[in-house]
Amino acid sequence: MTTILGIESSCDETAAAVVVDGRTILSNVIATQIDLHARYGGVFPELASRAHVEAISAVVDQAVADSGIPYAKMDAIAVTRGPGLVGSLLVGVNYAKGLALATGKPLLGINHLEGHVYSLWLSEPRREIQFPVLVLIVSGGHTELLLMTNHGEYQRLGGTLDDAAGEAFDKVGRMLGLPFPGGPNIERAAQMGNATAYKFPRSKRDESYDFSFSGLKTAVMREVTIPQGTDGKKRGPEKNPKVRSDVSVNDVAASFQDALVGALVEKTVRAAKENNVTEILLAGGVSANSALRQRLRAESALPVRYPPLNLCTDNGAMIAAAGHFRFEAGLRSDLDMDVQPMWPLTSDAYEKQG
Ligand code: KG4
Ligand code: ZN
Repeated sequence: MTTILGIESSCDETAAAVVVDGRTILSNVIATQIDLHARYGGVFPELASRAHVEAISAVVDQAVADSGIPYAKMDAIAVTRGPGLVGSLLVGVNYAKGLALATGKPLLGINHLEGHVYSLWLSEPRREIQFPVLVLIVSGGHTELLLMTNHGEYQRLGGTLDDAAGEAFDKVGRMLGLPFPGGPNIERAAQMGNATAYKFPRSKRDESYDFSFSGLKTAVMREVTIPQGTDGKKRGPEKNPKVRSDVSVNDVAASFQDALVGALVEKTVRAAKENNVTEILLAGGVSANSALRQRLRAESALPVRYPPLNLCTDNGAMIAAAGHFRFEAGLRSDLDMDVQPMWPLTSDAYEKQG
C-alpha cells in the first residue's frame, strides 16, 4: 500500500490531496483563485504566484490533517513540475522540496498532463483500465490526443495547432460578455440556445489528428461583435468587444460549443478506431462539459470514461495518483529538480527528465 501526498500549483488552483494506491482519495483540498482573476478576464500570472504563496501551507496542512495520516506515514511527496506558469510552478515545487527535506520522504516531479490522465484512475477504482487506451486531454492550456500503451507510456497522435479547447471557450466567453472562466458559463448559456442557429466552421477536417480552433474563434468574433472602429471607438478584438444587440448570446454559445465539440469528437472517435484501443479516456477541465461527454458516448462504439466533475479541473489528487504509479515503477526525482514550464507528455521526456 502506498500513501502519496500530491501538490498542484501550475495555474490558478492551489491544491493538495492524499491518495492511497493511486485510486482512493483520503483528502482533497483546493483553494481556487477564480474570483481573483475574474476581473481581468483571465489568469494574471503575478497575482497567481502571490496567491499560491499565501495559500500553499494552509492547503497542504489541511490535506494532511483531513487524511488522518501523519507525514511520517506518507510514502512520497508528488508535485506538479510542469507544464504551467513558471512562477506558480516554483511555489509548489519549492514547498514540496522543503517538505521532502524536512520529512526525509522521496520527491516525485509530476507532469501536469499526466496528472490529468491519472484522474481517470480515481474515478472508478474497481473497474481496471486495460491498455492500450486513447486519451483526450482538453484543458485551458492543452488539447492533446494520446495513445497510452502502459503506465507512463504515451504516444502523441495529435493536438491543437493554435488555441487549446478551454482557451477557445474562455476567449469566446469573454467576447460574449460572460464571466470568467468561459467554459462552464458557455455550457450554461448553450443549454438555453439553439445549436443550429449559426453555422460556424468545424476546421481541420483532414486526415491528421490535429485540431485548430482559432478559425472558429474568429468566425464567432465576426458574427457577434461590432467591428473595430465602426462606432467611433478603438478596441482590441478580444479584450473589449461589444456584442451586437441583435445577437442571441445563448444561440452563439450553443452553435460555438457544437462546432468545437464536433471537431473533438470526430477525430477522437477516428483515432480510437484506427488504433484498436479498449476505451476512450477524457480528461482536463473541458471534460466537465456535458455536451462533449454525451456526444463522445453517442458517437463512439467503445466505452468512454471521464472523471467526476470535481476531478476534471486542476486538483492535487490527480498528481498524487500519477505519483503512485511513478513511485511503484521505482522512479524518484532529485531535490535539485527544476520546474519545466513547457514539458510535453511523452514517455521519452518523462524518463529523461528524472
Ligand atoms: O484543467 P484545467 O482546470 O486547467 C488547465 O490545466 O488548463 O482547465 C480549465 C479549463 C478552462 O479553460 C475552463 O473554461 C474549462 O477548463 N472548463 C470548461 C468547463 N469547465 C471548465 N470548458 C467547457 N465546459 C465546461 N463545463
Ligand atoms: Zn490542468
